[in-house]
Amino acid sequence: MQIDQDIKTYLDEEGIVERTTEEISEELERENPGFTKVLDKVTEDYERREISSSQYYDILCKIHNGMPLYDHFKGRSRGGVEWILQQVKDLGIRENANVLDVCCGTGLEAVFLAGVANQGYVQGRDSSQCMIDNAKRRAERRGLRNVNFSVGDRDELDYKSQFDFLLCLHSLTEGDLFYGPDAEIGMHYVLGDRFERFRKALRKGGKVGISVPIFDPNVMGEDYVDYEKKRIFSSLGHTGFDPVDVSFFQFTNIDDVCLNYLFASATAD
Ligand SMILES: C[S@@+](CC[C@H](N)C(=O)[O-])C[C@H]1O[C@@H](n2cnc3c(N)ncnc32)[C@H](O)[C@@H]1O
Repeated sequence: MQIDQDIKTYLDEEGIVERTTEEISEELERENPGFTKVLDKVTEDYERREISSSQYYDILCKIHNGMPLYDHFKGRSRGGVEWILQQVKDLGIRENANVLDVCCGTGLEAVFLAGVANQGYVQGRDSSQCMIDNAKRRAERRGLRNVNFSVGDRDELDYKSQFDFLLCLHSLTEGDLFYGPDAEIGMHYVLGDRFERFRKALRKGGKVGISVPIFDPNVMGEDYVDYEKKRIFSSLGHTGFDPVDVSFFQFTNIDDVCLNYLFASATAD
């Protein structure tokens, strides 16, 4: 797969470099002894949903060595970050495009796109104040004026036919808890509702780009990747997106973990 040079250069400039979890942890421990234990505990608490998504990401976005922790860890899967940015760029984002990045995190993708859509504008939204503060700092540091970031929930979008592109990267079901015998039904309902809001925010003919990481498909059985593809494909189709396309990327990250990323793109009709 060919990755454009501007993507690679941007990620280098933003310090998204490949380092193992061990290397990152060693550096964190030197700077702040005991921190990795705290981080492991917080991650467990979040997985058990004992703390909220905002509480979790407010910790993950604290600055270490001049960069949010979240971005240090993002470097572990640099190949995946490159692939997603290439998929997003290939949606056809041009210089006058208006783009909404829902759950934009530290603004890595949104700020890159503000450079591409330099005559349009990019709006980033995330439920964590700390993530948004980092995103704003990134835009300021790069001197971009056509990107704006605000705190807000994915399920409270109130835009109408405003955007040419809407992204939701690695965040489609972040923080959700689907539990019990009716979990599947609950998930279909929530996804349908979410996609409906996404479609409303887009102008007719606008495009959505959604990335979904599947960290361990074997937990759910061998066909899980296919199943996830079909789920997204059909939910988008049922909420007025046509045509829908889903690409798949499998790679091994620097920790030697095999990762599977889906990227769904679809047009609002
Ligand atoms: C895994 S990160 C992905 C961030 C970024 N899109 C990326 O690809 O790196 C998930 C993000 O979703 C945000 N988030 C979680 N629940 C949210 C919600 N209900 N509404 C808006 N943002 C949410 C978190 O604060 C976090 O920044």
